[in-house]
Amino acid sequence: MNQEAKKDKIIIIDFGSQVTKLIGRRIKEYKVFSEILTLKDLKKKKIFENVKGIILSGGPSTVIGKKFPSIPKEIFKLNIPILGICYGLQLIVKHFKGKVKSNIKKREFGRAVLTKFKNSLLTKDFFYNNKCNVWMSHQDSVFKLPKGFTKIASTNKSTMTIIENKKNKIYGIQFHPEVTHTDKGSIIFRNFIFNICKIKKQGKLDSEKIKILKEIQNTVKNDKVICALSGGVDSSVVALLIHKVIGRNLKCIMVDTGLMRKDEFKSTYKIFKDKYKLNVKIVNASKIYFKNLKNIINPEKKRKIIGNLFIKIFEAEAKKFKNVKFLAQGTLYPDIIESKSVSGNNSSKIKSHHNVGGLPKKMNLKLIEPLKELFKDEVRILGASVGLSKSISNKHPFPGPGLAIRIVGNITEKKVKILQEADNIFIEQLIKNNLYDKIWQAYAALLPVKTVGVMGDSRTYEYVCLLRAVVSEDGMSADYFSFPKKFLDEISNKIVNGVRGINRVVYDITSKPPSTIELE
Ligand code: XMP
Repeated sequence: MNQEAKKDKIIIIDFGSQVTKLIGRRIKEYKVFSEILTLKDLKKKKIFENVKGIILSGGPSTVIGKKFPSIPKEIFKLNIPILGICYGLQLIVKHFKGKVKSNIKKREFGRAVLTKFKNSLLTKDFFYNNKCNVWMSHQDSVFKLPKGFTKIASTNKSTMTIIENKKNKIYGIQFHPEVTHTDKGSIIFRNFIFNICKIKKQGKLDSEKIKILKEIQNTVKNDKVICALSGGVDSSVVALLIHKVIGRNLKCIMVDTGLMRKDEFKSTYKIFKDKYKLNVKIVNASKIYFKNLKNIINPEKKRKIIGNLFIKIFEAEAKKFKNVKFLAQGTLYPDIIESKSVSGNNSSKIKSHHNVGGLPKKMNLKLIEPLKELFKDEVRILGASVGLSKSISNKHPFPGPGLAIRIVGNITEKKVKILQEADNIFIEQLIKNNLYDKIWQAYAALLPVKTVGVMGDSRTYEYVCLLRAVVSEDGMSADYFSFPKKFLDEISNKIVNGVRGINRVVYDITSKPPSTIELE
């Protein structure tokens, strides 16, 4: 079921800019679909189906020599609106026989002031008093406009900073509206998407829900589906949606790794079984997880062990459910756009993510991903509309490998117990103080060091507990949450007094980047 192909979308053709992904991000913020394509991808069939706009990204190349990366000429004749950014602008100018020159004296890196020359659909609401601060990164500039183009705005050094061919809906800009250093840069994308490409704003979630349910019905018919249920928002919503359509033909498997939050797995299982009446089985695998993780210190090794073990256990359980045809997965739209590799240069791998779905390739199951076109906030609303309780739909994200990546170094059952207690106190206090919903993600972690303390006149030598709480839009970047001092005083006190094995609490005040949200 390739839902993605049916939606109106913008394609972004990547010429290797460091910030191409940010173009996708800005478009995503308007809940519009986009796809980043390499020049190679353009050779694929049906690539322009449902494409309502094309963006040509920036990049390190120059159109000045004889050879330079370009797109097939026919793309300019498709009658689809085009927006070229930086190198993209220069490519447009070159193609339509204008002039681009390199001039070291006219290069601009960093902030520049843009002045409006003429009104344009692309710049509606963009300027303030005919000016705007923009972010530049170029040495080549447009020196002569091609026929049919007009100048919309300029800076001191580049006279043709925004150009347009209104009739053919082709636009070019020298600066980078995708970076936050350009004031109101996302307005440029809004205007391009809605005013120029005429993409319709996404329909109401109600009609989206009806469509999703119908699609499940049409795809699955009378066949059977299995789903790995973690108790997180995405897999829970997927399970409830599919259950609504096919009832007991959906089987959910919950693998208890022993690495979950205190009591969370069992209580979630009870909710799904008793309240939602799902066909759900819990598999207690904690012993084998602890055995396999013994003395493993390397974070990537931990992740691999946990991921591989999960596949094994899930496969074995799934086989017991006869005649299964589909595997349901809680993939969201941002998972797709963020995981696209750009320019064929795989961006350096930071962590191997363990995501429950999509793993058992050997089983030959067809995938269904009902949330593939939705954003997290929409999934939460959808969850509420199929009766998912707020305690699950508003839950902070929790990583597949669980507490294993929050216990730095060697994992033991004892350490997990200590951490579960501390984490439970932290989360309870956040809820009690009305802070939980203001935070993207919060958790306690255990550091692999013991330090000296004094309690009741006695010396203690116990672990350090690290607290992390971040605000974020999507987990890609994050900032630490500013707690009132009173809350920090109270939480430190409650954890040290309430948890045996911890005598010191520290609060992590690093943002992402340079840190990541999880410790490992
Ligand atoms: P990092 O630590 O990379 O985390 O800044 C970003 C977001 O991803 C979550 N995370 C995971 N989620 N499987 C998941 O499903 C994983 O293996 C995994 N590792 C990290 C993390 O909790 C944060 O929300």
